[in-house]
Formats: sequence, C-alpha cells, structure tokens
Amino acid sequence: MKDVVKRVTDEFHITRNEAELIVATLLGRPRFEMYADNTIDGDTATMLSLRLTQLKKGVPIEYITKRVQFMDFLLTIYPGVFIPRVESEYFIEIIVQKIQSPPQTILDIGTGCGALSIALAQVFPDAEIVATDISPQALRNAAENIERFSLKERIALRQSNLFKNISSKFDLIVSNPPYIPASRLQLLPKSVRDFEPIVALNGGEQGVQFIKRLLSEGAKYLNLGGMMAIEIDADQVELLTGILHKHKFTSFSFMKDLFGRFRYLFLGTLKDEKS
Ligand SMILES: C[S@@+](CC[C@H](N)C(=O)[O-])C[C@H]1O[C@@H](n2cnc3c(N)ncnc32)[C@H](O)[C@@H]1O
Repeated sequence: MKDVVKRVTDEFHITRNEAELIVATLLGRPRFEMYADNTIDGDTATMLSLRLTQLKKGVPIEYITKRVQFMDFLLTIYPGVFIPRVESEYFIEIIVQKIQSPPQTILDIGTGCGALSIALAQVFPDAEIVATDISPQALRNAAENIERFSLKERIALRQSNLFKNISSKFDLIVSNPPYIPASRLQLLPKSVRDFEPIVALNGGEQGVQFIKRLLSEGAKYLNLGGMMAIEIDADQVELLTGILHKHKFTSFSFMKDLFGRFRYLFLGTLKDEKS
C-alpha cells in the first residue's frame, strides 16, 4: 500500500499526508493500514484505480465514496443530489443562536439529502419536521438518511415545488434554495458544474428566483412569532433589501458565514396574519 500512497502523491502532486487521506477515504480504511498492510488484493486494486480515475476527472470525493459528514452525521450521498456544504453546518449554528424558543414544527424546503432536517432534529429534539424537495432522487436519498438515523417518526418527506403541497403553518421554515445566477453557472468549479445537479444550483437570472418566491409566499406558512431562515449569496443583499419591505415580515437581518460573507437571511414574525 505504501507504493499506492507514493503513486498518488506523485500523480496528484500532493503531500504524502494528503495522499494517505485520499487512499484511506477511497478504501474506507484507517490511514495506518496504508503502512501496516503492504499488500492489496486484485479487486481492491481495481476498485482503487477506478476511484482514482474518477477523482482525476473531477468527480467530487463524496460521490465516489457516497459519504458526506454533516455536523455529527455521516450521511449517504448519491450523485445527482447536492452535496451539503460547511456553510450549511454553520447555518444550523446561527439558527440555534437566533431562534427565541425551540420550534415545535419545522419546514425544510429543498432538503437534498436531508442534511438540514436531520441536524435540526438533533438540536430541536421536540420538533416535528416536514422536509420537501422537487427532485425524486433527492427525496430517495433523504429517505435513506432519515431511516439510517431512525428519524422516520419525526421527519416527513414530501415532494413539492416550494410551498405547492404544503397546507399547514410552521414555527421555523428553513431553506437552502438554488441561488446561483444562471450567468455564473459556467464559472463554477468543474467538480460542481459538471457533477452536481443543476436543479440544486440554478437560481435564475439574478439567482433570486426561488428566494423571491420564498419571501412572497413564506409568510402564509409561518406561525405568528415564527422565523424563516434562507441561505443566499452575498451579492444578493442589496437586491433583497430593496424588496423586503413588500413582504409581511416584521424584522429581517442578514448574517455572515464563517468566511465573512453575508450568507443567511432571517425573517421574523408576521405583522398581521390577515393583512
Ligand atoms: C442548494 S440545494 C440544498 C440541499 C440541502 N438543503 C443542503 O443544504 O444540502 C437546493 C435543493 O433545492 C431543491 N429544489 C430546487 N428547486 C426546487 C423547488 N422548486 N421546490 C423544492 N425544492 C427545489 C433541489 O433539488 C436541491 O435539493
């Protein structure tokens, strides 16, 4: 195995440490085995070689291993489903800081592999959650993760185009919607552009197509005193600030992510349920 680590170090122009980590991750084995066991059987060698070829082509390592760590959860992730990002882990932290009292009901719009819902189920142990997505592939992936963490009783999955199949109200609505402006899609890193699902990325002309709909329809689905939290792009702050007065929220604030960029929009209580 030492030879394999050396080969990967040379081929990818990376350090030995990085090569160890990649080989260990691709094989699903601890790093010390790279040295403890010097032989590798034929099948494993073939599998490793295929996986390294995929990696070289730019396939995200999460799609190769079908695993992604999100907060405390090692989730299954399938190609065709958005890979949860570290900004969304931080989103959970900020939600916990911002929320005034633990929500009893949560709606997660565009759940992908279920990451936000599963993490929220942990931090708000009394909450019942509805997780939606338009993509059947994402819903299948989320179902597998929800089952794996024994959360079937608490997280209900529903196929829905934003609020279309939603009829009740919630204390907390969260969404990490597609928000990349269509004109910027081609500028994304190759591993994102070529391998992650376009339906999870494309936010239309200025990237705000879905965010605008969340703002105009969301208030109807929030309980009084509830909160809606949306992931956005920092470039959208001005545009969104300009349209927020049209909507029925009493307060709003933009929060920065762990890279210092505005990433989260929080919207507070409705002014008046009937207005
Ligand atoms: C950026 S991904 C976020 C996935 C997940 N919440 C996360 O943070 O890892 C956006 C998700 O929204 C879903 N989506 C796109 N358009 C939608 C729509 N009109 N209604 C509901 N979900 C939608 C995509 O399928 C994708 O899973």
